Amino acid sequence: MDIPELKNSFHEYFPDTPGDPEIFFAPGRINLIGEHIDYNGGKVLPCTISRGIYACVLFRDDRMINIHSLDQDHRAHIPLDRKITYDQALGWANYPMGVIDRLIRDNNSPKGFDALITSDLPEGSGLSSSAALEVLCAYCAMYPKISSDKDRVYMAQACQQAENTFVHVNCGIMDQACIALGKKDHAISLDTHTLEYRYIPVSLGQAHLVIMNSMHARKLSGSAYNTRRIECEEALNHIKTHRDIQTLCEAKCDDLVYIPDKTLKKRARHAITEQQRVYSSIEMLKRNDLAGFGHLLNASHLSLKEDFEVTGEYLDALVDEAIKVDGCLGARMTGAGFGGCAIALVQKEAIEGFKAEVTKGYREKTCKTPEFYVCTIPDGVCRLEI
Ligand code: GLA
Repeated sequence: MDIPELKNSFHEYFPDTPGDPEIFFAPGRINLIGEHIDYNGGKVLPCTISRGIYACVLFRDDRMINIHSLDQDHRAHIPLDRKITYDQALGWANYPMGVIDRLIRDNNSPKGFDALITSDLPEGSGLSSSAALEVLCAYCAMYPKISSDKDRVYMAQACQQAENTFVHVNCGIMDQACIALGKKDHAISLDTHTLEYRYIPVSLGQAHLVIMNSMHARKLSGSAYNTRRIECEEALNHIKTHRDIQTLCEAKCDDLVYIPDKTLKKRARHAITEQQRVYSSIEMLKRNDLAGFGHLLNASHLSLKEDFEVTGEYLDALVDEAIKVDGCLGARMTGAGFGGCAIALVQKEAIEGFKAEVTKGYREKTCKTPEFYVCTIPDGVCRLEI
């Protein structure tokens, strides 16, 4: 990212705001494992990635937030003293609007600012560009008040609520929490029921995590995402009539007999087995057992394909091609599914050949050319010292 260039452009877009702007950054995220269980009270294992959204910001003395994106149409103009209402025609601007509305409702008196933003996160790729935008706006509007871990958890909750109630996407808390709480070189083992978390070091030795973009866009709001949530709730209700549990991830495979419907049973089986795979993955990562972790990635993808049915032909083709290649220890879709990205654990010396072979096989099957990103794991949202 060309930060000096971003800073130089700021006054072109905000000629009336004098001063030297500051730079803020919110990373995107991948989920290592624990997919579609953050709304089932499960433990998930996401980490931040070194691609994200940059904001060049100057704070204002009045009650106005203005955000201009270098990459997309629309501007967000958010007056802090007037009612903020959703407007579909404003596109991405609804995300910051929803967040600011939430902060105001929680009596947090957000600050006015002008921001020029730009992103190197491919949009619609399931790397959480929406959550990154939400958390970035919340962080800037509250700056420098977000200091403790508790503040960061609150910020994640506020952003999730904004997405649920303002934008009407019924997402879980994983993405916002990961971006708010991320830690360099660590994944977050996050209990989505209690919001307790601990950091798990990710040191992959001779391997890298390669992000593979299917180039088939994923649309969360228009997708079967909300349907899956409802199905999981129904499955839980069946089990609850026999067992005293609060979340689907507390259930055991033995409890599946209480679910009469075949589809609901499959959804629940994914949630229950995926939770087990998260626990096993944490153990494998601690022991540096990359082959073992790779098998769990493959098993997770299969479960998301067959039981949860959220992978789709593009992600399946990508993962099938990836796991064929020598030096690939495992692969799975990451995020909501239906398109977007998958991740693969690949031995460092095999990466160039891996990219070539996956590209060839994937192109033959889908006529699309995938993109690959090898990222590091940075801290969560922050002001960059530049
Ligand atoms: C999206 C949602 C998350 C989570 C994942 C699936 O990224 O925003 O809350 O449910 O899908 O694991």
